[in-house]
This record gives sequence, structure tokens and C-alpha cells, in this order.
Amino acid sequence: MSDLAIIGGTGLTRLNSLEIIRREVVHTPYGEPSGPITHGRLFGHEVAFIARHGSTHNIPPHRVNYRANLWALRHIGVTRIVAVAAVGGITPAMEPCRIAIPDQIIDYTWSRAHTFFEQDLEHVTHIDFTEPYCGELREQLVAAARQAGLDAAERGTYAATQGPRLETAAEIDRLERDGCDFVGMTGMPEAALARELELCYASCAVIANWAAGRGGKQAITMAEISANLEEGMARVKRLLEALIPAL
Ligand code: HPA
Repeated sequence: MSDLAIIGGTGLTRLNSLEIIRREVVHTPYGEPSGPITHGRLFGHEVAFIARHGSTHNIPPHRVNYRANLWALRHIGVTRIVAVAAVGGITPAMEPCRIAIPDQIIDYTWSRAHTFFEQDLEHVTHIDFTEPYCGELREQLVAAARQAGLDAAERGTYAATQGPRLETAAEIDRLERDGCDFVGMTGMPEAALARELELCYASCAVIANWAAGRGGKQAITMAEISANLEEGMARVKRLLEALIPAL
């Protein structure tokens, strides 16, 4: 039984180094997760894996049942989660294919089921979210990235947008003025829900493209995103190879 889970994002619906042991279907009080949880061995250690967008990548960011995914992972005994997510790079250092380990988030999403603390409450609960990611796991990711020689960005502010459309150039200008370094559609409410469940959660962002209006005027294509993610995910694999034995 593993206490470590990996949530795979766009470009990571399967972990091809994972030796699959079994798949587990978990039903939750919040509905169905994105799919069964895969238990397997990765670089010599047991891990659990779930594809955030489903195994055929058919669940868009605003329809992911984040509550069910996190509840299911905790239910099977997971305490630590590495969340892999594709993002667009906003600030100059955040170039495509690079890995970034965010340390802050600004939430621009709306109308998503974003809390477990909704009903049947004994009292109102406000979780502390000053540091949205688990410091210890974040540091382990940073150390693993250095060990793997990945030149990862060791911090950065993640802008969580609603999607599924990409942003306008003006929206990206605004996100940069707000202090955001990269933009993705799945970082929230996932991180906050993990904190509500007292799970140690950190994120590994893979820069798939220059965000709208950055890196030239051309449109962002899925072909460009897929090509960069292929290289980016090869780097994620090297990161996990350094991380997992060190945990
Ligand atoms: N914007 C939002 N989400 C993303 C992007 C982007 O440019 N690229 C990958 N996920």
C-alpha cells in the first residue's frame, strides 16, 4: 500500500514506467472520481496514480470532480500527492518544456465544487492557505529536480483559470500584473481541497506553450502543446525517478 499518489494531467494519462499491480474503483460521497485508481510500482516503490482528465482524456478542467478524486485518494490511504499539470508560461523564464514547482496560487476559477466544508457542519471552518503547497514535498521536488539536472523553476505563482478556452492576451497581461508566472486550469480547487483533507500536496507544472500574447502573436495550437508536453513529460519522468527513491 502506498501513501504516495501522482495525479496525472494533460500529457500524462498513463505513467508508462509504472508496473501496474491492480486497479481500484472507489465510489465517494461526492460522486465518481475521474477513473479507477491504479496501484503500481514506480522506480521500485509503490505509488497510486489517477489521471485527472480520465484515462481517455475526455474530462475538461471545469468538469473534473476534484472532490471525488481527492476523497478517493485519501480513502485508500494516500497522505502525499504530487500533482502534475500542464501550464502556459507567462514570465520570460517560463519557457516551453521547462518544469516549474509553484509555491503560490491565485485562483480565478468560478462555479466549481471547491470545498468539503459545505453542509452538516458543526462549525464553520477556514483552513489556513497562506502557503498553498506542502513545504516538505515541495522541497523534495526541488531537490529531486536539481539532482536530475533539470534546471527547473524552483518557485512561481500559478494562475488557475476556468477554461476550457485559453486566455486572451489582455487576460495574460493582467495575470502578469497580478504576479503570476504561469497559467493552468486545474490547480484549483485541487490544492485547497487537498489542504482541507490535510493531505501533503505539491505540484509539478510542465510548461506546454507560451501563454496567449507571449512568444509572438501566433495562435496557440494543440499540436504545439502536445509536442512540448512530450519533452516536458520526459523531464517529469526524470524528476520522479530522482524523487521517489528519496522520499
Ligand atoms: N493557459 C491555461 N492553461 C494551460 C495553458 C495556457 O496557456 N497551457 C496549458 N494549460
